[in-house]
Amino acid sequence: MTTAAQLDLLKTLVDPGKVLTDSAALETHGKDWTKQFAPAPSAVVFPKTVEQVQAIVRWANQHKVALVPSGGRTGLSAAAVAANGEVVVSFDYMNQILAFNEYDRSVVCQPGVVTATLQQFAEDKGLYYPVDFASAGSSQIGGNIGTNAGGIKVIRYGMTRNWVAGLKVVTGSGELLELNRDLIKNATGYDLRQLFIGAEGTLGFVVEATMRLERAPKNLTAMVLATPDFDSIMPVLHAFQGKLDLTAFEFFSDKCLDKILARGDVPAPFETRTPYYALLEFEALNEDVAGAALATFEHCVEQGWVIDGVMSQSEQQLRNLWKLREYISETISHWIPYKNDISVTVSQVPAFLRDIDAIVASDYPDFDVLWYGHIGDGNLHLNILKPESLAKEEFFARCAQVNLRVFETVQRYNGSISAEHGVGMTKRDYLGYSRSEAEIACMKAIKAVFDPNGIMNPGKIFAV
Ligand code: MLT
Ligand code: ZN
Repeated sequence: MTTAAQLDLLKTLVDPGKVLTDSAALETHGKDWTKQFAPAPSAVVFPKTVEQVQAIVRWANQHKVALVPSGGRTGLSAAAVAANGEVVVSFDYMNQILAFNEYDRSVVCQPGVVTATLQQFAEDKGLYYPVDFASAGSSQIGGNIGTNAGGIKVIRYGMTRNWVAGLKVVTGSGELLELNRDLIKNATGYDLRQLFIGAEGTLGFVVEATMRLERAPKNLTAMVLATPDFDSIMPVLHAFQGKLDLTAFEFFSDKCLDKILARGDVPAPFETRTPYYALLEFEALNEDVAGAALATFEHCVEQGWVIDGVMSQSEQQLRNLWKLREYISETISHWIPYKNDISVTVSQVPAFLRDIDAIVASDYPDFDVLWYGHIGDGNLHLNILKPESLAKEEFFARCAQVNLRVFETVQRYNGSISAEHGVGMTKRDYLGYSRSEAEIACMKAIKAVFDPNGIMNPGKIFAV
C-alpha cells in the first residue's frame, strides 16, 4: 500500500488532477474483463508524456511501489488487474497518433491509441491494420503489444508482433530505450523489441509504438458453413486452403449460435442446424476466385463435410455473418465464463479437441460448455459457463481442478495453455505446462535485468 505522503509526491510528477484515489476510479481502472479477482489498487495515475512515465517509474523504485499498466482493460487473463494495492498507470491520455509515413507504410502511435482508431486511420490512408478482434473498439495498442494480441485474421496476417516496427519503452528501472528504430532489416544482435511484445508489462512500459500497415483487402467475402460434426471442419479448411488465400477460418458450436440468435439482433445464416459451423473469409478479387469458392463448397457438400452454407453478397451481409462469431465473447460474458484459450499445431486439432471434449464431458457434465475459436491457426476457446445457482468461488475452484487434466493434455500435445489471451494471473499457475523450468528461469532472469526491483506488474506471468 502507498502512504498519503508517497501519493502527494506522485501528484507532483504528473499534470494536476491526474492521480485519482476515489473508489469509482479504483474499481474501474483496477481491472480488466476477467471477473476472478477483486480490484484493489491504491491509486490510478494518468501520465501524458514519456518523461512523466519515467518519473513515475523512478518514484516507484524509490518507494518500492508496484505498478500495473492499464490500457483499454479488455484483457482476459487478469494481467491488468491491480488486486494488491498497486498503483495503476493508465495510458488513456497518451492516445495520439503522432506520425504517418506512406513510404514505410507505418504509423507512430502512443500506447493509448484505440485499436479501432488505428484501423480507421489506416483505412483513411487507403491502407489496412490487420490485427482485429471483437474488442477493437476499446482495446489499446499498448495493451495489444503487452499481450501480443491475435484475433480473427491471424491465419493470414499473424499476431500483433508481426506489425510492430519499433518500440520506445521505459524499463522497470526508468530508462528510455528505443528498440529496432522501425527498421525492416536490422542484424545487430538481440532484438529487444520482441521481448517487450507479450511481456504483459512485466519488463517496463511501452510508451510509443511504430506499427506497420498493409495493402487494404479487396471485396472481402465470408461464408458460413454448417458441418455435421467436428471432424468435418478440418477437411473443409484443407479444401478451401488448397484453392483460396483465406483471410480467416473460424468455428463455433451450435450452443454458441443459440446464444447469439437469442439476442434477437443477429439474423440466422440459414435454417439448418448442425453441431458446428465454420466461418471463412477471402478476398473475392475476381469472378474466378468466387467461382473457386463455390466449387469448393460443392465439393465439401458432396463429401458430406458440409450440410448447408451461405456466402455474403454485400458488405452488410458480410458484417452480419461476422456478428455470429464476433458477438460470442460479449454475449456469453453475462454467464461469467471460465475461459480457456488453448492451441496446438493445426494438424493435431481434431485429435486434441476429441481428447479435451472427453475430459470436459466427464468432468463438467452439469455445466454448459461452449467451443469457438480461430481453428485455422490451431487456437480453440473452451468456455465453461457458471450455473446461476453456483457461487463464483466454488465455480472457479471446480474449473481449476478440471484445468489440471485439460492442461496435461495440452502438454502432451506440446500445445500452449494461452494462445492469445496471455498468462496474467489466471494462467500463471499453469505456465509449467507450456514452458520448461529452464525457460521460466531464463524469463525470470530477463525480468531481473529490466526490472531489478520487481516493481513492474509483479505476480503476472509468474508468482513473485
Ligand atoms: C475471441 O476469439 O472471441 C476472443 O479471443 C475473446 C474470447 O475468447 O472470448
Ligand atoms: Zn480469440
